[in-house]
Amino acid sequence: MAIEDKIKELMQMREKARKGGGEKRIEAQHNKGKYTARERINMLLDEGSFEEFDMFVTHRTKDFGLEGTEILSDGVVTGYGTIDGRLVFIFSQDFTVFGGSLSETYAQKICKVMDKAMKMGAPIIGINDSGGARIQEGVKSLAGYADIFQRNIMASGVVPQISAIFGPCAGGAVYSPALTDFTIMTKSSSYMFVTGPKVVKTVTNEDVTVEQLGGAHVHATKSGVNHFVAENEEEGIALIRKILSYFPQNNMEDPPVYKCADPIDRLEDKLNHIIPENPNKPYDVKDVIHSIVDDDEFLEVQRNYAQNIVTGYAKFNGMPVGIVANQPNYLAGVLDINASRKAARFVRLTDAFNIPILTLVDVPGFLPGTAQEYGGIIIHGAKLLFAYGEATVPKVTVILRKAYGGAYDVMSSKHLRGDINYAWPSAEIAVMGPKGAIEVLYSKELEACKTDEEKSKYFSEKEEEYKNKFANPYVAAKYGYIDDVIEPRNTRFRVIRALQMLASKKDNNPLKKHDNIPL
Ligand code: HXC
Repeated sequence: MAIEDKIKELMQMREKARKGGGEKRIEAQHNKGKYTARERINMLLDEGSFEEFDMFVTHRTKDFGLEGTEILSDGVVTGYGTIDGRLVFIFSQDFTVFGGSLSETYAQKICKVMDKAMKMGAPIIGINDSGGARIQEGVKSLAGYADIFQRNIMASGVVPQISAIFGPCAGGAVYSPALTDFTIMTKSSSYMFVTGPKVVKTVTNEDVTVEQLGGAHVHATKSGVNHFVAENEEEGIALIRKILSYFPQNNMEDPPVYKCADPIDRLEDKLNHIIPENPNKPYDVKDVIHSIVDDDEFLEVQRNYAQNIVTGYAKFNGMPVGIVANQPNYLAGVLDINASRKAARFVRLTDAFNIPILTLVDVPGFLPGTAQEYGGIIIHGAKLLFAYGEATVPKVTVILRKAYGGAYDVMSSKHLRGDINYAWPSAEIAVMGPKGAIEVLYSKELEACKTDEEKSKYFSEKEEEYKNKFANPYVAAKYGYIDDVIEPRNTRFRVIRALQMLASKKDNNPLKKHDNIPL
């Protein structure tokens, strides 16, 4: 065959591979409001940067009528490219080929890009849209999944891993996204569950729809499996690009630093008045966040899950920073099981990738009650404590108002290697709030009061005494547990100065095989 013909043959094969499962199935995909695997890659990566691997791979199964049904690329498109000029590796499942189901060779393609990402120290992005294990391949498919899981585990904390769920993701297939750092689900076209509605009906007799069982909303609000809900695939893809902009390529690098036009000494007068006079009145801590970060930009992670704690990424003078903040606007900012788990995972991820952590504290304590105790708040609260205590990145803390009890310790206190701990003049740092404290300390005296009036007068006097003594930042400041009491409107500047000073921080944990975080 002449070389021209050979090249023509190559082009024809490429064309065929690019068609995946064929025009009809591509049309069906579009009719569901979904893009194809290759369209998604093209939308995500810098224009013209995609280099594909293994386009000519096909399955090797002859069972159950699969002989002669080989389709080039075998249901997953893999390769590398760039996002904002930075290298990334990618796999994108192609639902038009056997429903995107995973075969032995398909898994090998994914493993190849994951191995390359680890060698090159670059993020891995997986776009999921698949019917799960290719049923005809049996255990070979299950083995393929496990090979991917193993690589997810090895890559965890080494390179950023992001999973987009743009279609079905069911059965054991859900565990690959679960092992990665972020999952993004599209609002109405994606779902994740270990067992589908039919099996649920058989086993538990529950009637649920796919959406009720594992839709984006459920995982964003109830289970906490999902980090971001995207209106559509375009938004999901923009989110992947945005997330990566805060992250270094791998755990050996520092996050990128950007030019910042927002003045670092910008004063925010409204912060001097944001804390209500009445300590039981809420305010929105996101107002504080938005007014101190660069250009009002905050990428909130798990926005609709455990809203009593806010987590997300922003920049200070162009430096990416992870922010954890108690939210007085929701359950008074109390720490409960879900908030502790959410924040602990966030702190560990942020620390793993050398991103400094800013903690804004306004916490009345841990949530009391049997539901929390039976649910293991001790273990889950310990996760957050552990995460802060082991983190070696620069840690800056600002106590805005309440820092009561164990929650004072947990929220990146000085005692957990907090580097710079500031407080606003409105800070109240004590073992517990005034009301509870007076009831415990003076129960006998209160009981001895003859009238309600006398009781209330005695209570008020003691409450005032307690507030004067503890409901301020100066006791903590006297012991050096607070480095300075700062004017609220100057918070942005003070945080940036602290981060600049901490930029060269080096801290280590003892060598060990791994820790034993309370799981
Ligand atoms: C082989 C599959 C497949 C699978 C879909 N297809 N899933 N082929 N193995 N797992 C094929 C279909 O036969 C069909 O082929 C084409 O893909 C499109 O599927 P449809 O059913 O027509 O699409 P749709 O109506 O959109 O339904 C999508 C679906 C459904 C809900 C995902 O296909 C489905 O329920 N599939 C099975 C899901 C499942 O139970 N998977 C196993 C999970 S357990 P044709 O030729 O007709 O177009 C698992 C274990 C992993 O994954 C363990 C890891 C540890």
